[in-house]
Amino acid sequence: MIAASIPTADFSVAQLATPQVPQAAALLLAINDDTAYSDECAWLLHCLTRWPPLQVGAVDHGQLVGVASGAVDERDPGLGWSHDLVVSASYQHHGVGAALLRAQLQGFRLLGCSRIRGQSPTRLASAIAFFEHFGFRVVDETTAAGFPGIADGTRVFITECAL
Ligand SMILES: CC(C)(COP(=O)(O)OP(=O)(O)OC[C@H]1O[C@@H](n2cnc3c(N)ncnc32)[C@H](O)[C@@H]1OP(=O)(O)O)[C@@H](O)C(=O)NCCC(=O)NCCS
Repeated sequence: MIAASIPTADFSVAQLATPQVPQAAALLLAINDDTAYSDECAWLLHCLTRWPPLQVGAVDHGQLVGVASGAVDERDPGLGWSHDLVVSASYQHHGVGAALLRAQLQGFRLLGCSRIRGQSPTRLASAIAFFEHFGFRVVDETTAAGFPGIADGTRVFITECAL
């Protein structure tokens, strides 16, 4: 019998490099709706240029296995948005998501944010329990309108944590 390939805890987490954007965008597409691959790449490149420490990747044996993407609010520089966090299915529950979120929260601190918000559409609501491990709490429920990667009209939970 051939043993299933189990990822090691040997991954590393660091700020994304520009050449990783296409691979990162492909991972993010899995959780975003109404988004074309080219738009995902363009949005991620924009975020990487504006807020480099908030775009973080996890790499195992040269392969990108998880991504976190975020932004600073255009009107409130103390407010950060943790827009996206995804770990490849076979790497989930091995600490990769936790390492990515911790690195991104450190990025928010560096940029002077004191409050971080996330948006979880109802289809990803099961991940809210993950964010609660890190101090996030649901503070609002709203209908998406112009949220990155979330179709307008979708019900969304807004989570928040203080840094
Ligand atoms: C949510 C997600 C990012 C978590 O990443 P992960 O690498 O599987 O999580 P970790 O292994 O780092 O888990 C960290 C902790 O959170 C807990 N946890 C992980 N996923 C959880 C979930 N869905 N619900 C509740 N707790 C969860 C783990 O038990 C672990 O707790 P511990 O440290 O006490 O053992 C990952 O499951 C994922 O990519 N899901 C699909 C996309 C998604 O829903 N993204 C979030 C919305 S943008």
